[in-house]
Amino acid sequence: MATLKLQDIQGIIVRGYSNLDAACFVLLRIRDAAATRQWLSTLSDQIQNSQDRPAETCINIAFTFEGLKALGLDQQTLDTFPTEFKEGMTAPYKSRFLGDQGDNAPNLWDWGGTDSAPVHILLMLYAMDEVRLTTMYEALAGAFATGGIEQIRKLETFTLKDERGASREHFGFRDAIGQPIIEGLSRVGSPDNTIKAGEFILGYPNEYGLFTETPTVSAQHDRHNLLPNGQNGSREHDLGRNGSYLVFRQLSQKVQEFWRFLDGVTQKTDGASDSEARLKLAAKMVGRWPDGTPLVEAPDQDNSDMEDQNEFAYHHSDPYGFKCPFGAHIRRSNPRDSLDPQPGTQRSIAVNKTHRLLRRGRSYGKPVSPSLNPQEMLNTEASGERGLHFICISANISRQFEFVQQAWVNNPKFNGLYSDADPLIGDRGRNEEVSFDRFTVQATPVRQCVNGLPSFVQVRGGAYFFLPGINAIRFLASFS
Ligand code: HEM
Repeated sequence: MATLKLQDIQGIIVRGYSNLDAACFVLLRIRDAAATRQWLSTLSDQIQNSQDRPAETCINIAFTFEGLKALGLDQQTLDTFPTEFKEGMTAPYKSRFLGDQGDNAPNLWDWGGTDSAPVHILLMLYAMDEVRLTTMYEALAGAFATGGIEQIRKLETFTLKDERGASREHFGFRDAIGQPIIEGLSRVGSPDNTIKAGEFILGYPNEYGLFTETPTVSAQHDRHNLLPNGQNGSREHDLGRNGSYLVFRQLSQKVQEFWRFLDGVTQKTDGASDSEARLKLAAKMVGRWPDGTPLVEAPDQDNSDMEDQNEFAYHHSDPYGFKCPFGAHIRRSNPRDSLDPQPGTQRSIAVNKTHRLLRRGRSYGKPVSPSLNPQEMLNTEASGERGLHFICISANISRQFEFVQQAWVNNPKFNGLYSDADPLIGDRGRNEEVSFDRFTVQATPVRQCVNGLPSFVQVRGGAYFFLPGINAIRFLASFS
C-alpha cells in the first residue's frame, strides 16, 4: 500500500473540518496573472495540509480550468487535463445529463453559469467561530486588489446541528454519515467501505490498480523542480500528484414545499395530517430516518443506537426494497452491493467502489425552524433562501460525480424503476410529455406510487475545480 504524502495533500480531502463550525467560500476572478501568482506564492505557505487537524482556522484553495488559463499556464500543460474538467459543468450536453435544465439551466445561475462572470479560484475558509472567520477573511480580502484578483461572490454557510451536536441538512436529516474511508489513513473501516486512495487523490493506485489520469508539465517548464516525475518512468513532471478534483454545486432547498408535499400525500381520509406517515415517507425518500438510522437496518422506526451506522448492504437484507426503496436517495447515490452483474457479491461491491464520492458540503441560509421539526417547518412562515453548498471530491469527475448524477440520481430507470428520478434531488424531466416525478415504495402485497413530485432542489451555481497538492500550488505560483 502506498504511503500517503499527507504534508502535500490539501486538508479538505482527508477531513471535513467538523470542529471548525464557521466557513465561507470565496469565488475569485483573476485580473492580473503576474500579480496573482505573487499573491499565490505568499498564500501557499498558509494552505492547510492533511497532516495536522487545524484547531482554529484553515484555508484550502482550488482552481477552475479557466482559472488555470487566466493564471497563464501554458497550453501544452492545459491540454493534459481531462476533458470533463476542461469543458466544465455548463457545456450544453453536460446540462442535459446533469439535469441542469428548465429552472436549473446554467443561464439562470447566480454564479458559474453561462451568463455570469467567470469563476477562476475558490478559496475555502474555515474557523472555529464567526469572529475568527471574519478576521481571516478580512485579512485575505485586503490583499485581493494587489494580488490582481477580484471577488465575484462570497458564499456564506450556516451550521445546522441537532441536540446531540450532529450535523443536519435543511430538510431535517442527519448529514455526512455515508462516507468512504480512504485506504492508507489512520481511520479504518470495513473492507467494503475502504477505497483505494487513487479514487480520491491523484498519484496513487485506484480501484482498477491503475493511476488515475493526471495533468503533467514538461520538465523544462518546472524550472524550480517543484513537481515529482510522472508515474511509470514518464519524463513529464506530475502536476496532479497529491491533488484531486472538487465539484461544487449550490443547491437551494425548497424545505416547505418538501414537507407540504409529503403532508398532502399522506393525509388521512378526513384530510387531517398524519405526522407518522409523513415522516415515514420522508425517511423512505432519503433511506435513513432523520436521526440517521438506516432504513435497511430499522425499517419501522429510528433507533438511536444506529444513527451513525454505515456498515450495511442492501442485496441480502432487502432484495425487494421493502425496507429501503430502490429509489431512495442513499440507495441510488451509493448502491453498495446492489449492482449488476452479480448483486450481493464482491463483484458488485468492486463496481460500486469505482463510483464513490467524498462529500464535504456545508449548509447555507437560516433554517425554516431551528428545531428542524417537520410540524414546525410546516407551520412557520419562512423567508429567505437556504440550501446546501454541495461539495464532493473525486480523482475522476466523469467516472465518479458525473456518473453518480447521471446514471443513478437522475436515471428514471434505475434498478428496474420506470419513471422515478431521485425523490430528494432528482431532475423531474424534460417536458410535459416526459416527467420523472414518481416515487415508488416497494411493498407487499402492492407497491405504493407517489406521483407528481415537484423539484425540491434548485441549482443556483456550480463549477468544477482542480484541487492541487501543496507543491503544485507552489508551482502554479512560480512559473512565468
Ligand atoms: C440539497 C441536496 C442534497 C441533500 C439535502 C442531500 C441529503 C442527503 C442525506 C440526508 C444523506 C444521508 C446522510 C448521509 O449519509 O450523509 C445523503 C447521503 C448521500 N448523498 Fe446526498 N444530498 C444532497 C445532494 C446530493 C448530491 C448532488 C449527490 C451526488 C450527486 C449526493 C450524494 C450522496 C451520497 C453519495 C450519499 C451517501 C450515501 C451512502 O453512502 O449511503 N447528495 N444525502
